[in-house]
Amino acid sequence: MSKDWNPASWRQDGFVAKHLPQYEDQAVLAEAEHTLAGYPPLVFAGEARALKAKLGAVSRGEAFLLQGGDCAESFAEYSADNIRDTLRVILQMAATLTYASKLPVVKVARMAGQFAKPRSAPTETQGDVTLPSYLGDIINGIDFEAGQRQNDPQRMLRAYSQAAATLNLLRAFTTGGYANLRQVHKWTLDFMGRSAWAEQYKSIADRIGEALDFMEACGIDIEDQPQLKMASLYTSHEALLLPYEQALTRQDSLTGEWFDTSAHMLWIGDRTRFADSAHVEFMRGINNPIGMKCGPSLEPDALLKMLDVLNPSREAGRMTLISRFGHEKVEAGLPPLVRAVAREGHPVVWSCDPMHGNVIKSDSGYKTRPFDRILAEVKGFFAVHRAEGTHAGGIHVEMTGQDVTECTGGAVAITDAGLADRYHTHCDPRLNAAQSLELAFTLAEMLNLEIEERRRDAA
Ligand code: PEP
Ligand code: CO
Repeated sequence: MSKDWNPASWRQDGFVAKHLPQYEDQAVLAEAEHTLAGYPPLVFAGEARALKAKLGAVSRGEAFLLQGGDCAESFAEYSADNIRDTLRVILQMAATLTYASKLPVVKVARMAGQFAKPRSAPTETQGDVTLPSYLGDIINGIDFEAGQRQNDPQRMLRAYSQAAATLNLLRAFTTGGYANLRQVHKWTLDFMGRSAWAEQYKSIADRIGEALDFMEACGIDIEDQPQLKMASLYTSHEALLLPYEQALTRQDSLTGEWFDTSAHMLWIGDRTRFADSAHVEFMRGINNPIGMKCGPSLEPDALLKMLDVLNPSREAGRMTLISRFGHEKVEAGLPPLVRAVAREGHPVVWSCDPMHGNVIKSDSGYKTRPFDRILAEVKGFFAVHRAEGTHAGGIHVEMTGQDVTECTGGAVAITDAGLADRYHTHCDPRLNAAQSLELAFTLAEMLNLEIEERRRDAA
């Protein structure tokens, strides 16, 4: 690997670029890249630095990370209601987790840029027709039709504009009063009131309400408290489509450092994290906080080499390792990685993605994720960190605020046969609003246990 880095160095011979689309017309591609490079940054370097500091606190066990949103954002599902509803569920989950863990919860959305998808097969066959696979709305179209499946560089400009408007609305909601903690708690109560599973979680919800009543009785007016009235929410996506990421990579005028301004946090997927990867080369030079997916094929030595490349100065908050083993593999697969990282003293956030290792094909033919397997992986992840004496730092989930039927199970008990009712995802199956909250309440119980255990140990 060469020492010199620039936003285009990933293009050099010797780097292997997987999962990048081929564009037919290079002139059209160059034109789109040029246009994007002239557009304003979506985030400011100072915000990315602030997120990195907060993730540094997570790596020290002083905070918890909640990262969630769509598997793939799409042009078709783009609406103010969808953005608002997903944000609302993220805020509800965060409030529950904050109360349970007694720790600040760092909120990072998989929104405002999560468009490009790595696919397991380059083509898709239906009947006797074979077409290129759908790669995400930023690259081609989902309809099974030759014209739609052609890669179109102009789509990057439309994705940028959708990301900009999404981010604008998120900023307006989170700073304009929509994220007021009293309001967030009211939604949770309203929501639970309508559900069959509320009884189990009522006591946590009641205690949150009592804490708010107590503060108000003490004269703390939520409307006057920026910490309670506003929320900080950061954006993230997989840095997969390198021409797009490169075009939005800018030099911070204050420090001279490079930042990928397409989002606050970017991550490297499980399929692009290998030695000599063009994606790793790109990511090592940007100063954003970054994530890396860690699946069953990752060996401890390879992980350590990757950490040395991506975080040579061992800056806390720079690296979030997102484990995604699957519910049956996490308890055996994760400990060797956790031990190697601890032994070498790398400061990392350990986060659990209980989604990508738990995909199955249902009898009805839909790709789904059984809710109990998702919970089982989260429980396994916590058990590993408890045994290793390390901090179970966060979760990373694919979820939506809509009442979709994509993952089976949960207290609302979505069945195989029910998947067809509202299966809207453009890629992987997401938790719906009820399942997301149920996950947050279950996690809250786990975090509570962790706190009690720590207190016992300290006594
Ligand atoms: C994703 O997060 O959408 C994804 C593709 O995950 P992974 O890289 O872990 O497979
Ligand atoms: Co996914």
